[in-house]
Amino acid sequence: MKKTLSKLAINGGAPVLKHPLKVPYLIGKKEIAVVNKLLKEGPLSDFIGAPGKFFLGGKHVRSLEAAFVKKFKVKHAVSFNSATTALHGAIVALGIGPGDEVIVPPYTMSATPMAVLMNGAVPIFADILPGTFCLDAKSVEKAITKRTKAIFVANLFGQTADFGALLPLAKKYKLKIIEDNAQAAGALWRGRPAGTIGDIGVFSFNVHKTIQSGEGGVLVTDNKHYALRAQLCRNHGENLAGVYPEAGLLVGSNYRMTELTAALCEVQLSRLEYLTKKRRALVAYLGKSLKGMKGIIVPPVSKENYHVYYVYPLTVDEKKLGISRDTLVDAMTAEGHPMSKGYLEPLYLLPIFQKKQAFNATHFPFDYRGMKQNYKKGICPVTERLYEKEFTFTMLCQHPRTKKDIGSFVRALKKVLAHKNELQ
Ligand SMILES: Cc1ncc(COP(=O)(O)O)c(C=O)c1O
Repeated sequence: MKKTLSKLAINGGAPVLKHPLKVPYLIGKKEIAVVNKLLKEGPLSDFIGAPGKFFLGGKHVRSLEAAFVKKFKVKHAVSFNSATTALHGAIVALGIGPGDEVIVPPYTMSATPMAVLMNGAVPIFADILPGTFCLDAKSVEKAITKRTKAIFVANLFGQTADFGALLPLAKKYKLKIIEDNAQAAGALWRGRPAGTIGDIGVFSFNVHKTIQSGEGGVLVTDNKHYALRAQLCRNHGENLAGVYPEAGLLVGSNYRMTELTAALCEVQLSRLEYLTKKRRALVAYLGKSLKGMKGIIVPPVSKENYHVYYVYPLTVDEKKLGISRDTLVDAMTAEGHPMSKGYLEPLYLLPIFQKKQAFNATHFPFDYRGMKQNYKKGICPVTERLYEKEFTFTMLCQHPRTKKDIGSFVRALKKVLAHKNELQ
C-alpha cells in the first residue's frame, strides 16, 4: 500500500475531514408551506377519544392514511405518533397478550421486543443471518413452542428479511408475521413493498429515518379487523365498547398523530422514491470505491431484494484487515467519518431480560403460568459475533450527502489502512 504523507488524526495528525458533514435533514419548502398554513388555520389535532366522526382523526391524518393505502396497495393504514406505539398497536391488533410468545430478532431497536412486553406477552429471541442481518428462519423454527403466536420480523438497515423461508414457516405453524419496517420504507422483496408482506407492517418517521416528520409511525394491513383494533388501541378504545363490543377487551391509549405531523409526513412520503434513488446512487458509487479493499466486506444483496440503504452496512474481517473493527472505527471517527461499533448490543443482554423484571419487582410476564425463557449470552452466536467484532455502518449515503463526501470517506479509509501499523 502507498505511504501517505499525513499522520493519522487519532495520533494527532490532521483529519481528512476538517468540518463535520451536515446532519441529514430532509425538510424542504413544501413541508414548511403546509405546516405554516396549518399553524395559521388549525386545528393542530382533530381526534376525540369517543364514538363519533372525530374518532378517526382529522383531515390530514386521514389524507396521510389514504396516501399510504394508495402507495403501498394495502387495504388499511392507521397512523400513530411513533413506530414504537404502532408496533404496540400491531400486538394489540393481533390479540397477543399474557401467556403468548412472539419470536423477535435480537439485532433491532429495542422497540420491537418492548411492544410485545407492553401487552404482557414474552419476546423469544432467534438468531439472524450474517448477510441480511435479519431473522434466520432455521433459528426461528427452533424457537417455536405451543405458545408462539407470531414472528416479529425487523427489516433491518433498508432491506427485508428472507421471506422466501419465513412465509412458509409462518404458514406451517399458523403464525402471524408482523414486519417492523421502520428502517425499510420503499424496499421491495420479489417486487412486493416491504411492510406489506406480513399480516401487519409498521413504518417510522422519526428524525433519523429516510423520510421523516420528527416523530410518527403508520401501521398497514389488509385485515379490517386488525385495522379496527389498531384504531381502538390508538384512540381510547375503552370508550367505544358500546359501538364495538371487542373494544371492551383492550386497553386504549392516546397514540394519536397530530395534524401537523400528518401533513408533514404526507409531503415526505411523496419524496420517497426521489430520496431513495439518490441514496442508492451514492451507495453504488461507494460500493465501487470499496472494491478490492482487503478485509472490508460489502454485504451481498440478493436479486429478490431492492435495498433502500437506511444505513450502509459493512462487515469486516479483522484478520484480513490487520486491525480490529473497533480500532478501525475509532481511527475513522477521528478522521471525521464516524462509523458504528456493531449497531446495538444483542437485546436479550439488556437488564430487563437478564433480570426478567419488566414491571417493578415482579417477574411478570416472564413467569406467567410456568413460562420459561433462555436469555443467556451465547443464544444467538451470529448476532453476538457481528456486534462484537464484525459489523459496522455509516450513514454517509443519506441526503444531502454527495459524491465528494463519499470521496472523503474513501480517502480516510485508505489513509487509516495505509497507516494501520501505527495503530495499537
Ligand atoms: C427497527 C426499528 N424499530 C422501531 C423503531 C422505533 O421507531 P420510532 O422512533 O418511530 O418509535 C426504530 C427507530 O429507530 C427502529 O429502527
